[in-house]
This record gives sequence, structure tokens and C-alpha cells, in this order.
Amino acid sequence: MAALATAFSTPIRAEGDLARGAQAARTCMACHSFAPGRHMTGPSLAGVWRRRAGSADGFARYSDALKRSGLVWDKWNLDAWLKSPAALVPGNAMGFPGIAEPRTRADLVAYLEAVSTGRVTVPDRGLPNPKELDAASRVTAIRYCGDAYRVTTADRKTHTFWEFNLRFKTDGSVDGPPAGKPVLIGAGMQGDRAAVVFARPEEILTFIQRQCP
Ligand code: HEC
Repeated sequence: MAALATAFSTPIRAEGDLARGAQAARTCMACHSFAPGRHMTGPSLAGVWRRRAGSADGFARYSDALKRSGLVWDKWNLDAWLKSPAALVPGNAMGFPGIAEPRTRADLVAYLEAVSTGRVTVPDRGLPNPKELDAASRVTAIRYCGDAYRVTTADRKTHTFWEFNLRFKTDGSVDGPPAGKPVLIGAGMQGDRAAVVFARPEEILTFIQRQCP
């Protein structure tokens, strides 16, 4: 944080303050990453500055409304988008109400430009990369009995979850787990909830065995 504070102590653009912009961008990170190609609910915002709306490589879930908008993301269009996405592009798919405060929008736009043009780098706080997870996360067996799943990991531990608290997800991207090697995510955090991430949906049923202890 000390380094960040120093780097941002002087606003680079008169219109927006980068430190405040970085702070405001936290609300965006629930749906966006700044890592190139890392798409989440929303497209990666890497390189968004001066890009045509709806054109990030590899993001397949743009609304027709945004793709057909003809907008280019300059500071005016970004400001209008962040003020009210629905007013600028009716029918778009960004589930975000907008930011009323002009100052906060200016900070965010300055930050988007700085990140996009590489003047500021952001640590990627996207999803954990399943390929880098350790034995404690590599799932070797999933057994279903009664109302519970028992998930065994490569460190030979078995974690028991009430069936309603275990999610099954897929991640077919390059960041996803290798085929046939699902990973357990989040088991250590709250304890009673977690997700098993598979490379492909077909793997889910073949992996789960009905078996009681
Ligand atoms: C709830 C999820 C969500 C949040 C929060 C969110 N976005 Fe988005 N964003 C999306 C989605 C989904 C799209 C694609 C919209 C479409 O296709 O209509 C999008 C699109 C965009 C685009 C257009 C990108 C392109 O490639 O054309 C920009 C710019 C953007 N968001 C910036 C932001 C910023 C800045 C914030 C924070 C203030 C933010 N978003 C918050 C989901 C979100």
C-alpha cells in the first residue's frame, strides 16, 4: 500500500485522481478483471481505452445492444456509461445501476485510462488459477450419501458438505482445471461451503459416486 500511495500521490490528470479511482474500481472487480483475456461476468477491461464497445477478444456474452452501439470507449462515452449504462445503451447486459457522483466517475475514467495504457499495473485479483492449486485442492473422489457429499482430495483428506452447500462449476477456459482433474475451492474459508470446479460439464456425473461410508 505504501508504494501505491507514493505512486498515486500526485494526480496524473487534472480531471481524475488515480488513488481514488483504484478505490472506486473495487466495485467493478466483482465482475471485471484487468488481466488481458480474463473474462468474468463482464469482459476483461484490459485495453478498453479507445476500444470499440463490445469487441474484447474471446468474450462471447456481449448483448446485441452493446455490440451494435457503435461506441468507442473514450472519456466522454465511459463517463456516460458509468453514469447510467441503461441510459447510454438501452438493453445492455451490465447489471450495474451507475454512479451519480461526477467526481467518482472522473476518478474511475482516469484509472481506466491509466491501467489500459499500462501506466499503472494492477495485481490480478481474479479467480484463483486452478492449475496452481496444491494437493489439498485436487479432488480425487466425490461420494454422495443421504444429504451429503464427501469430497476426497489428493492430500488424502475427506471433507463432508451438506449437499445444498457444495456447488459444482465448470471452467473451460485456459485458466480452468485440466480435463478429468477437478479442484475444490473455498473449503478452507468458511468451512461449510465450497465449490468443485470441473473442466467440462460431462465430468460431473461420472465423477460423483453414490456410496455410503
Ligand atoms: C454485476 C456485474 C458488473 C459490474 C459490477 C460492472 N460491470 Fe461492467 N460489464 C458487465 C457486463 C456483463 C458487461 C457487458 C455488457 C453488455 O454486453 O451489454 C460490462 C461491460 C462493461 C464495459 C464495456 C466493455 C467493452 O468491452 O465494451 C465497460 C467499460 C465496463 N463494463 C466498465 C465497468 C466499470 C468501470 C465498472 C465499475 C464501476 C463495472 N463495469 C461494473 C458487468 C459488470
